[in-house]
Amino acid sequence: MNFELHQVTRRFHGKTAVDAVSLTIPHGQMVGVIGRSGAGKSTLLRMINRLVDPSEGVIRFGDTEVSRLKGTALRRWQSDCAMIFQQFNLVPRLDVLTNVLLGRLNRRSTTSSLLGLFTREERIQAIAALERLGIEQTALQAAGTLSGGQQQRVAIARALMQEPKMLLADEPIASLDPLNAKIVMDSLRDINEREGITVITNLHTLDTARNYCERIVGMAQGRVVFDGPPDALTAEVVAAIYGTGRDGAGIDESMTSTALPASAAQAAGATPSARESSMATA
Ligand SMILES: Nc1ncnc2c1ncn2[C@@H]1O[C@H](COP(=O)(O)OP(=O)(O)OP(=O)(O)O)[C@@H](O)[C@H]1O
Ligand SMILES: [Mg+2]
Repeated sequence: MNFELHQVTRRFHGKTAVDAVSLTIPHGQMVGVIGRSGAGKSTLLRMINRLVDPSEGVIRFGDTEVSRLKGTALRRWQSDCAMIFQQFNLVPRLDVLTNVLLGRLNRRSTTSSLLGLFTREERIQAIAALERLGIEQTALQAAGTLSGGQQQRVAIARALMQEPKMLLADEPIASLDPLNAKIVMDSLRDINEREGITVITNLHTLDTARNYCERIVGMAQGRVVFDGPPDALTAEVVAAIYGTGRDGAGIDESMTSTALPASAAQAAGATPSARESSMATA
């Protein structure tokens, strides 16, 4: 089932944040959205799950016109596209297991959720999600006591509990060190590949988008200025996205890289491909 944005625009007080964006995303794609600060990446993502309403345009998932949904149908959609944020958005004083179970919130009545009446099946499912992300040992710890990398994995486990059709991630690794960034990106890729869930992720680093995403959407000033595979991201295109010299010179790689040093990658049991290594110095 295709997901489609048609001429989607969002204005804030007369300023255009997202400008007539049209994209068709086949089910199961892993898409990275890149661009400078203020390019409209978060606004685009937030319109997809209707945290923000479009000023104009149509958003469609299969036959459903997402941009017109209201009430229960809207809540259902928001549950169908789970969202992961840079700052994790967990409830810090609640334990990890409960945070993960909160992913079921939109699937059940509010009262039973608030009373903590989760079924045995849901608890088993939550533990399984934590196991999959390698953090089951933290289940009874307050979420706020975990490291950033662990918290983001809890957020991914919570997203999995939603059994989403789509996973939206807004700079999921921007607050993480390179090793945790790799763990989180590997988890997103694993979910994309194993469950076949469409993943759309905003990334502020070019090399991560290149390494993980089969399709990259480059935004500048609210518009899509690039849409294609990583191989097509030439220096000129990068310059157009990030707004530097035409030959790509002047792009500060530290702004666009979260490359994992080889030593840390080895410690994590990773074997960086030649491609990844070349990206780190590209
Ligand atoms: N709620 C809002 N009210 C007013 N202006 C907004 C609002 N949300 C976003 N904007 C404006 O829209 C533009 C795009 O913002 P957005 O957050 O989508 O960019 P971004 O690409 O995600 O940037 P960053 O990389 O810094 O996260 C910016 O000019 C921003 O100031
Ligand atoms: Mg943003």
